[in-house]
Amino acid sequence: SALPALLQAAPKAELHLHIEGSLEPELMFELAQRNHIQLSYPDVASLRQAYAFSNLQSFLDIYYAGASVLITAADFEAMCWAYCQRAAADGIVRAELFFDPQTHTERGIALATVLEGLLAGIKRAERELGLSLDLIPCFLRHLSEAEALQTLQALEPFREQIIGVGLDSSERGHPPLKFARAFAAARAMGLHVVAHAGEEGPAAYIWSALEDLGVERIDHGVRCLEDPDLVAHLRQQRIPLTVCPLSNVKLRVFDKLQEHCLPRLLDEGLMVMLNSDDPAYFGGYLGENLRQCFDALPQLGAEQAYRLLRNSLEASFATDADKHTWI
Ligand code: HPA
Ligand code: ZN
Repeated sequence: SALPALLQAAPKAELHLHIEGSLEPELMFELAQRNHIQLSYPDVASLRQAYAFSNLQSFLDIYYAGASVLITAADFEAMCWAYCQRAAADGIVRAELFFDPQTHTERGIALATVLEGLLAGIKRAERELGLSLDLIPCFLRHLSEAEALQTLQALEPFREQIIGVGLDSSERGHPPLKFARAFAAARAMGLHVVAHAGEEGPAAYIWSALEDLGVERIDHGVRCLEDPDLVAHLRQQRIPLTVCPLSNVKLRVFDKLQEHCLPRLLDEGLMVMLNSDDPAYFGGYLGENLRQCFDALPQLGAEQAYRLLRNSLEASFATDADKHTWI
């Protein structure tokens, strides 16, 4: 059908993108060489071969190892700028970029260095590509709440450079409730709040993210369908779910794209949109997620396409004035 070509050009937002997950193997090896870091794989081809994941944790292990090549502000800028160019090519007008401060501070990289690089990439993309961009640091949920609170404190001098906080990493065994105080403190700073929930974890974690953390959006959230009361609540409150189909298949949340619950989420009237999550690891950027979904899922047509794109812009944390220029 002609739909994917139209979708490619239409204005859209990406709301679930980990900037460290946009680090392509070629740039990873270039930065490793420049920074004298030894990777566990001899070359790009063998690294790419290792991108065969069995679950979330098997991905995270490789993903955190990959991030170890990021040392200087210029490294973070190069990664960010590379993503922005791909985003613009996919018709993205607005992106809210996740990054994991603790992945870097734990290695001795200063938060100021990380932010200096990311913000330089963002400024260039705003200027040269006309994108609207913001940053959302995420707490690593496999670490303690005390460490999350320390991270939030370290972010305070950069309050005006971020729009919110998120929660990511290993979901099972780390319920949102563990971070209730850190999220209350973030909300008290006037930050937006989002959390990964219901990717591998149960529907109860989605409830907990909403009730214990007060999140405005749920990242992934595909397991909400296991709880009809939750589905009704998400629909009534129009809570956005930032769905990532290629990620879900790569991390074996669904065996194949044909089995993805996206059509059901749309049928239930939920506020869903597509996102690439970690495109360098999961086989494609946002445009590729759209193309593959519309190829694999015959239930999706023009009406669903319009809703997905409109939802992405509406659910963003952009100003109403910006939203009006896109919708
Ligand atoms: N889930 C949890 N943590 C993550 C992900 C994800 O999909 N991507 C990067 N960190
Ligand atoms: Zn994610």
